[in-house]
Amino acid sequence: MFTLLLILGSSVILIYYFLIKPQLYWKERNVTQGPPVPIIGDNKRTILRQESFLEMVKRTYMRFPNERYTGIYQMTVPTLILRDPDLIKQITVKDFEYFTDHRSFVPDNSDPLWNKNLFALKGEKWRDMRATLSPAFTSSKMRAMFTLINDCAKKFIDFHLEASKDGEITVEMKDIFTRYANDVIATCAFGVTCDSLKEPKNEFYVMGRQASDFSSIIKNLKIFFFILLPKIAKVLKIAFFNEHVSKFFKNLVKETIKMREDNGIVRPDMINLLMEARKGRLKYDEETNVNDSGFATVEESHIGKTQVLKQEITDTDITAQALIFFFAGFESVSTLMCFMAYELAVSPDIQSKLMSEVDEMYAECNGKLTYDKLATMKYMDMVISETLRKWPSAIAVDRVCVKPYTIPAVNESESPVHIKIGDVLWLPIIGMHYDPELYPNPDTFDPDRFSEENKHNIKSSTYLPFGIGPRNCIGSRFALMETKTVFFHILSKFEITVTSKTVVPIQISKKQFNITAEGGYWLGLKPRQ
Ligand code: HEM
Ligand SMILES: *[C@@H]1O[C@H](CO)[C@@H](O)[C@H](O)[C@H]1NC(C)=O
Ligand SMILES: *[C@@H]1O[C@H](CO)[C@@H](O)[C@H](O)[C@H]1NC(C)=O
Ligand SMILES: *[C@@H]1O[C@H](CO)[C@@H](O)[C@H](O)[C@H]1NC(C)=O
Ligand SMILES: *[C@@H]1O[C@H](CO)[C@@H](O)[C@H](O)[C@H]1NC(C)=O
Repeated sequence: MFTLLLILGSSVILIYYFLIKPQLYWKERNVTQGPPVPIIGDNKRTILRQESFLEMVKRTYMRFPNERYTGIYQMTVPTLILRDPDLIKQITVKDFEYFTDHRSFVPDNSDPLWNKNLFALKGEKWRDMRATLSPAFTSSKMRAMFTLINDCAKKFIDFHLEASKDGEITVEMKDIFTRYANDVIATCAFGVTCDSLKEPKNEFYVMGRQASDFSSIIKNLKIFFFILLPKIAKVLKIAFFNEHVSKFFKNLVKETIKMREDNGIVRPDMINLLMEARKGRLKYDEETNVNDSGFATVEESHIGKTQVLKQEITDTDITAQALIFFFAGFESVSTLMCFMAYELAVSPDIQSKLMSEVDEMYAECNGKLTYDKLATMKYMDMVISETLRKWPSAIAVDRVCVKPYTIPAVNESESPVHIKIGDVLWLPIIGMHYDPELYPNPDTFDPDRFSEENKHNIKSSTYLPFGIGPRNCIGSRFALMETKTVFFHILSKFEITVTSKTVVPIQISKKQFNITAEGGYWLGLKPRQ
């Protein structure tokens, strides 16, 4: 009888300590939170496929509308959602020193090609690399790269003009925009030209897909290993990329560099800029950084603008940085393009307004678009800004505490919150973008929110498609330019239409972690007369 009681008692205590207490982390700190669910925390509905990740962020953001922050549990990981714009600014900009890193899901040193990329780097190493790379993303460099991108967009159009000789065609947008984005990365980041629409199975495309495909079973299994058994993953030397994929890109970069050095070839692309950085010759050219790329652009902080002295940059470093385009800029850009095409197709008024702007510009520049002309297209910028509000592909981004920090209380109803090293914070991007207090009628697609008269109504730090602070997206100008260019060319030749295959309203998949439409993005391209 006594032993039974002892076993019972100790199991109650064990259950409490291992299952219940971890889910009271925030409550014990006087931070609001939802009801605790052991082990799966606030992911219950996502696991049961009752809601998508995007809906989970919106729901938890809205749970306590009057609080400046609220606690959630990503499975067992306590995460503090920051809700108040001023607090977000304070933590990501002013007190950035305390929150310099992202949470890593691939253990340090397990795969140099992953661990050395800018997104994954931490602390000092991140700082040096950011300062090294940021000069490569200024306006003047984007202007030089524009021709490369414009060529890809023209190839994209030629292919579809050919395909639609006999009239309207129905296409899956994700597929064609992924191919376009691939060609852009090939030429801008690796110095390789390819045409993935004409040659759907070209080697670069196949390898790029393998590098960036997170949905494959093997990769999922690996990520599972990385998260749950990081030490074992390290011992087994499980690399993030497949051996043949990393070999392909390493060789490609090495050979390209060698060929350029031997023959003195200069091309306005990333490989060239990184080669310059290696020689310590890449500087941040401030004066040319005009407001040429649109409302959504994020600015570089002083960290990105500091001059780095000549530093060790190996071929592997260069490959790792060029590969960032695949994980940071491939999926996100093609997702933006898909949703923009969809929103234009379902709102003919908005599409025809944009089309007239495109036609005017087409006439003005005789069909030969330039970087500076593109920057003057106001309505184009409004449409993209609104697409990024409604469909921000980075649903939420995190920060990890690297130095103990206290969020001071603003009044007697709050307690100071002590954040410990390793605690995870979230910027609930999509939550804010759908907050009716910040964006009235958030489900309506309305580019006029970003018009000259209205855009001052958008409170600072509440529009975050590219993040905020020194750790913001380094590629925002690049992404905006790439998207505007292709839509200029599409709308000058085609009308984007809803077809019988189009699902309206769009259904967001509950199975995918990222923003993905259930069944794909099927739309029509109807040649204009
Ligand atoms: C529409 C397209 C894109 C969206 C929505 C997007 C969004 C974001 C967001 C939200 C972050 C995190 C910011 C933060 O934590 O505050 C980020 C980081 C980053 N993005 Fe993008 N991005 C896009 C395109 C690109 C492109 C084309 C590149 C090309 C290089 C790129 C490179 C990066 C890098 C390197 C980081 C990490 C920066 C760092 O940690 O210092 N992104 N992006
Ligand atoms: C939580 O709030 C109570 C009542 O205001 C206070 O007594 C307690 O010290 C607070 N706890 C923490 C960890 O701040
Ligand atoms: C305390 O501040 C929060 C957040 O700004 C606010 O929602 C709340 O109403 C304030 N409470 C009091 C008693 O002033
Ligand atoms: C997002 O979902 C799509 C559709 O399944 C998949 O192909 C892609 O690899 C996913 N991307 C990421 C980053 O998870
Ligand atoms: C840049 O900003 C200035 C002042 O804010 C404005 O007058 C100008 O039209 C802007 N240029 C572009 C290309 O948007």
